[in-house]
Amino acid sequence: MRVIIKPDYDTVSKWVANYVVYRINKFRPTAERPFVLGMPTGGTPIGMYKELINLYKNRKVSFENVATFNMDEYIGLAPTDPQSYHYFMEENFFKHVNIKPHNIHMLNGLTKDYEKECLSYERAIRKLGGVQLFIGGVGEDGHIAFNEPFSSLTSRTRVKTLTESTRQANARFFGHDINKVPSTVLTIGVGTIMDSAEVMIMITGKHKAEALRHAVEGNISHVWTISALQMHPQGVIICDEEAASKLSPETVAYFKDNEKNNF
Ligand code: PGA
Repeated sequence: MRVIIKPDYDTVSKWVANYVVYRINKFRPTAERPFVLGMPTGGTPIGMYKELINLYKNRKVSFENVATFNMDEYIGLAPTDPQSYHYFMEENFFKHVNIKPHNIHMLNGLTKDYEKECLSYERAIRKLGGVQLFIGGVGEDGHIAFNEPFSSLTSRTRVKTLTESTRQANARFFGHDINKVPSTVLTIGVGTIMDSAEVMIMITGKHKAEALRHAVEGNISHVWTISALQMHPQGVIICDEEAASKLSPETVAYFKDNEKNNF
């Protein structure tokens, strides 16, 4: 696992956006062979999306041949609902770049047939040759996508019930009213994420320090589903100093030294 420690949120956001652009351009995607990018929602990636839009406007990248798969969606929210992840993605990213609508993949929170929806999502990923780079965030309880504590580390796309603490954390997007936060979601599984060629997780802020500590120094456990990243051949955590504040000084020194000459 790589752990890249940057001074603050802005530096993390810019670094990840530049890395995404580097990976897309290196892949030289075509219409027949698009670059497949996994994408997160939430507070953490907003800075990265802003920077990706800047890089697009400055002609550093084109999204014409990029296909995206989002991690999750609330059950019961229409794409036009401002709290839905469809809406989030449209507002924060898709409408600002030249991505083609047929290349955008998101789970349908209004589906009547969850099983079919989840199976066809997995099939669509496979059909495009798998995800090249999955960018994600992490919850304070260590969830990756919406794989809450005790999710199977081999899980696939499915329905999940959110924990009270995740609904509490996300209430800030719902007028601070936890009762408005849906209690069920569709989410890709830990196994789905692990199938990606590379997984890059952004972790910023003091409130994520415990999750980061478990991800890097803890045992692989379904209690902190982020810890599955330790089993990934190309797992990368990019974090700020605050999130890294509960790592041991030896761990921090090791990764800082290890990364000093890298991208
Ligand atoms: P956040 O959410 O980026 O809003 O902190 C991350 C997550 O819950 O996975």
